[in-house]
Amino acid sequence: MRFSSSFRTAMASPFTVHRLHMRGRSPVVKCLNSIETILRRSVGTEPVVAHTEGAQGDDSGEKDGPRSLSELMADRQEQAEKSVLISCPIRTSETKFLKFLSKHGNINKHFFYESYGVYAVVEFARRESVVSLLESAAIPSVNHECIVPFKSRLLSLSNQSLAASPAQQPGLPCQPQTTVSINELIQRLSTEDSVDDQIGALTEAYQLTEENSRLRFLVCSLLKDVAAAYFPECTIRPFGSSVNGFGKLGCDLDMFLDLDSISGWNFKPPKSGLSLEYQMKRTNSERHVTQSILSVIGECVDHFGPGCVGVQKILNARCPLVRFAHQPSGFQCDLTANNRVAMKSTELLYLYGELDPRVRSLVFTVRCWARAHGVTSSIPGAWITNFSLTVMVLFFLQKRSPPIIPTLDRLRDLAGPADESVIEGNDCTFTTDFSKIQLQSNTDTLEQLLGDFFEFYATFPFSRMSINIRKGREQNKPEVAPLHIQNPFETSLNVSKNVNTSQLDRFVALCQESAWLLQQGETRTQRGSSRNRTATPWGLATLLLPSKVAGIKGRKKHKKEGASQRIKSLLESLKNKNEEPKSEDA
Ligand code: GTP
Ligand code: MG
Repeated sequence: MRFSSSFRTAMASPFTVHRLHMRGRSPVVKCLNSIETILRRSVGTEPVVAHTEGAQGDDSGEKDGPRSLSELMADRQEQAEKSVLISCPIRTSETKFLKFLSKHGNINKHFFYESYGVYAVVEFARRESVVSLLESAAIPSVNHECIVPFKSRLLSLSNQSLAASPAQQPGLPCQPQTTVSINELIQRLSTEDSVDDQIGALTEAYQLTEENSRLRFLVCSLLKDVAAAYFPECTIRPFGSSVNGFGKLGCDLDMFLDLDSISGWNFKPPKSGLSLEYQMKRTNSERHVTQSILSVIGECVDHFGPGCVGVQKILNARCPLVRFAHQPSGFQCDLTANNRVAMKSTELLYLYGELDPRVRSLVFTVRCWARAHGVTSSIPGAWITNFSLTVMVLFFLQKRSPPIIPTLDRLRDLAGPADESVIEGNDCTFTTDFSKIQLQSNTDTLEQLLGDFFEFYATFPFSRMSINIRKGREQNKPEVAPLHIQNPFETSLNVSKNVNTSQLDRFVALCQESAWLLQQGETRTQRGSSRNRTATPWGLATLLLPSKVAGIKGRKKHKKEGASQRIKSLLESLKNKNEEPKSEDA
């Protein structure tokens, strides 16, 4: 989560045509079907296959249509509560390890991953098994150090008798928790047969996996155990890209400390008769309460949280937060409190992503493209944020003819009484019932959408107009800012207030260049063969290569050179890039 200034930050189309069902024989529908399958695999709507022998299986069966985010999160939280995180010696025998743990009860699921050593996530079928396991764990013996006496579900396996014999498997099968490098991705995409396939492959390579998603909920659950020292009834929920469907492996973990059950939020007092209430300290500033809570939790995490390092309390930001690294998972964590509007934006983005599989694919592609060209950055600054970029993609999809997704006003009109939500005076109401939303039958391919996205923003009148997903049409800018994207819920705010003119100019120049590149015949004809491991970059792969406009300062017109010359120089850059050390992040 960013705490920079980004955080300070149409009339609904008549959706008369029934929801577009992803069945049928046309190539577009076939392509959408395959994308949908890829996407379901990672969002967590697919029933989870238990990997453990004798496992109870997972009961998160898929209902007809997508599940609501709250249902999905409830399941994930339940899984996390029954899970433990164990650091294992690399040569541990998986079979012996499982047999050892099964003494405490059946195991639903387990997997291994690497992050400063090998770790296992183990989910038991029952919570009692976790209690039993923790009761059997010993306090570590130390020689010259002292231990901080805080027990948690983060454990270390040290018994060497569980080591695998040389005849057995060489090591534990680890699930990847980071993305492939940008160069490897370019190589992979170059072997695909169509731009649509490239977009599918990019999405599959970058999206959060089932395991990574579980790990994120487990870290929230472990942290809740720390915060429970002060607030036993608290919950810690992930939000942002960890759960909105647009998360990339390696993205930060945004967490919300939910004290609603204690803070009186949504509490209805009894109408009559005797009643008791708690005596509680009072203050006239909610912000002050949030800062105090995060301050003590920050101290607690810093002093007692196993695996939590580099704790920073950033309490004077518009949205106060505690930032730290959770070493065993490798996640960069941002813990906030009193951030309900962000929870609502998360729910809205999730809903849009689930409405049509092209939404997530296009967002992934644009996010990856933006990161490859430094349009977005993990460092706060004048860059466009991933959140803003996602809203721009949504807006573009609302502007298609016919629209691919409805406006936020339309979703609000479809809301029932249970959806009503007003947060700090802001109307955050919208339907979360997928069956009420009827989509129009737009059959644009992803290749068309990607090309048109770049063209759309290459010529968008940024100087006069604001992007507005509530109305689904551009509005006159209410204030002077190079880029104006109306905050969907806090409508007087601009989510891209931080973006300066030169960053917007770079974005526009890159859109011009990418639209042009996609139009070139070469991007279509120079396809690589899937058998050729070092295929020539084409299509989407060329868009991820270093750009000629990367250093542009002003909105200069991009000089068009011959297409073959362009590909030649792009290839040259790839060759040079391949010789550089591998970058961690795209
Ligand atoms: P990455 O972390 O970059 O992968 O994406 P993210 O969507 O998680 O973005 P970020 O961590 O910056 O923010 C977390 C969530 O906070 C977003 O998904 C939004 O729901 C919300 N958020 C972020 N920036 C803004 C903003 O400027 N205004 C509003 N209203 N919400 C924001
Ligand atoms: Mg985030």
